[in-house]
Amino acid sequence: MRNFLIILSLIVAGISSAVMIGFDVEEIGSDNTYYDDEQEGLDEQITIRFSHVAAENTPKGRTASKFAALLEDKTNGNVKVQIYPNALLYNDANEWEALQNGNVEMIAPATAKISEHYPVWQILDLPFAFPNYQAVEEAYEGEIGEALLEGLNHANVKGLDLWYNGYKQMTNQEYAIRTPDDFSRLHFRTMPGPVIQEQFNQLNTSTSKLSFNKTYQNLEVSFVDGQENTLSNINTKKFYEHQKYLTISNHGYLGYGVLMNQDFWDGLSSSVQESINAAMKEATEWGRRHAIEINDQHARAIRSNQSLEIYTLSAEERAQWEHALHPVYDKAEQTVGSDLMKEIKTIKERYAY
Ligand code: SIN
Repeated sequence: MRNFLIILSLIVAGISSAVMIGFDVEEIGSDNTYYDDEQEGLDEQITIRFSHVAAENTPKGRTASKFAALLEDKTNGNVKVQIYPNALLYNDANEWEALQNGNVEMIAPATAKISEHYPVWQILDLPFAFPNYQAVEEAYEGEIGEALLEGLNHANVKGLDLWYNGYKQMTNQEYAIRTPDDFSRLHFRTMPGPVIQEQFNQLNTSTSKLSFNKTYQNLEVSFVDGQENTLSNINTKKFYEHQKYLTISNHGYLGYGVLMNQDFWDGLSSSVQESINAAMKEATEWGRRHAIEINDQHARAIRSNQSLEIYTLSAEERAQWEHALHPVYDKAEQTVGSDLMKEIKTIKERYAY
């Protein structure tokens, strides 16, 4: 009898478990998903991989972080931007291809680097085109910027906006550069791009086109004597460790085209596209307002570190540079066309020194 009762209770327990399991299976099976608050909207989770070559504490690095935060906020966390700074993922040599192939969704190359693929972009690298920051803003956010961004559509690249860094300065290891003649005995690292090349041709300087992330080591082994860059890039990449002289020349402006893979963009819902546009607009504005201050912070760090001898061009020397570099405009006009060239010359004259 005792054994019979034990067997009976086991059978009852087995049946009730089966019934409970049965209920569970039925509930789960009704739409093949567990309902769970945390997983709501899982389908809409989008990740944007954003690769760039500058350091985090630069105008580009900080504007990228601002954009990521704004976009995440505007989409309630549904769109995440993973930023890969310092050429961690792709560098100057392969980021354009990576974007076109969809290996990353966003990049922000220097305008000169875009001009390698789209020569009309060289207009933004013309020497002494921007007498002040207002002139830069007018070109970036006016007709010129609009025409350049729209012109990218053909290469599976969507131009989102133009971002700010600052004026370029010259550094080198040999002596203080003051006049255009001082360049002829030096070998310079350059970014790619026809205007950059022509600028150094006019200064009779020999050059090597090198990726940004290879510049430090080429300065270190003295393969090149000098380079041109903004103070934020010079400081964050520690170029001062292998350069003795800095000439404050403000001879050109370094900014960026912010680009997205076109297929990726086309696959987004219109509400996500709107959020990207809104976040981009705010981030660009933030970048414009803060780029000068960020470069000033790096200027102070360079000055207090005292490893560079700093020389600022006089107005007379600046005029000599401008005169020496004037032929760059004639050559560029053949590619850029007379309309855009007229536009940039109008801006230049409006804010003339
Ligand atoms: C950058 O600011 O993205 C790099 C500029 C350079 O290649 O010199």
